[in-house]
Amino acid sequence: MSNIWEQFKSIFGGLSNGPSNPVLNPRKFRMSRPVPMGRHWMNNDPVATAFFNSLSISFPHAEVYMIDSLKPWREHVSEAMREEINAFIQQELNHSREHIAFNRGMIEAGYEFKSVEKDILNLVKELNMRSDLDRLQMTMCMEHLTAVISSELLSDENHLAGAETELNQMWLWHATEEIEHKAVAYNVWLEATKDWSSLRRWVSRSVFFTVITYRFFSNRLRAQIYLLQQDGYSKRAAFFAMMRYGLKKGGLLRKLARPWAAFYKVNFHPWSVDDRHLIAAGDSQFIMGGSVEEIFDKFIETDKTSDKKDNIAA
Ligand SMILES: [Fe+2]
Ligand SMILES: [Fe+2]
Repeated sequence: MSNIWEQFKSIFGGLSNGPSNPVLNPRKFRMSRPVPMGRHWMNNDPVATAFFNSLSISFPHAEVYMIDSLKPWREHVSEAMREEINAFIQQELNHSREHIAFNRGMIEAGYEFKSVEKDILNLVKELNMRSDLDRLQMTMCMEHLTAVISSELLSDENHLAGAETELNQMWLWHATEEIEHKAVAYNVWLEATKDWSSLRRWVSRSVFFTVITYRFFSNRLRAQIYLLQQDGYSKRAAFFAMMRYGLKKGGLLRKLARPWAAFYKVNFHPWSVDDRHLIAAGDSQFIMGGSVEEIFDKFIETDKTSDKKDNIAA
């Protein structure tokens, strides 16, 4: 029996101890004000529009929660990690600002979502009652969800095809920075749990990830149905329309299944999947504060660092 237990424990022996992130670059991006937005800004499709709108409603609240969950750890980590947390906070603040403006655009376009926001605020209140470590673990799990969605958005242009230009750029900008900072919370968590056994770490993050995934997708689906009802859909029709949209061949949710599940691997680290090329690709697709030369330099820099891949992958 003890032999089996020893073998079981050995499976968890090879966990990553915290590879480094790419340098975080909070970009200057800002949409026009008021945000120009047609009611069905996403390819004239109410279902696809509801998918992105429901995400946007949650972002300003979720991002403030994630910022607050990382702040207490700045006192307990190295100077380098503290700088990464600060850059992470700056990026999330910028996202939050643009999504608040985006959400105002939704109201201008005729949508109402006060009850959806109230549910999110209640959830955030509930999560904030947990310990600093629990809050950090939840943020780490949410960051994996946003990272895999972002990676898919940047990998397959079909997902945002037909979106109004400035809104398209905003989603690409946000996705780019989500990939760039995808490991910050994870690395802080590795530091915070450095005295834990690998098995304990795996069990803990798996349990948190399962709960966070369930709540994230069920709450977003509820919000999507609520928005589609305002476009004349019945609850039932809205549910099946969203299922078809997400799970059809090439659908976003269908394609997310495998990268989502990677979080359960015993040796998982966000940079086990090296998608840094998407950061440069994302930068080239939206207008950022820098010049063409700066964008070009960024490509060169990414090239130069590609031989560090083995060091970065877990
Ligand atoms: Fe964000
Ligand atoms: Fe993020």
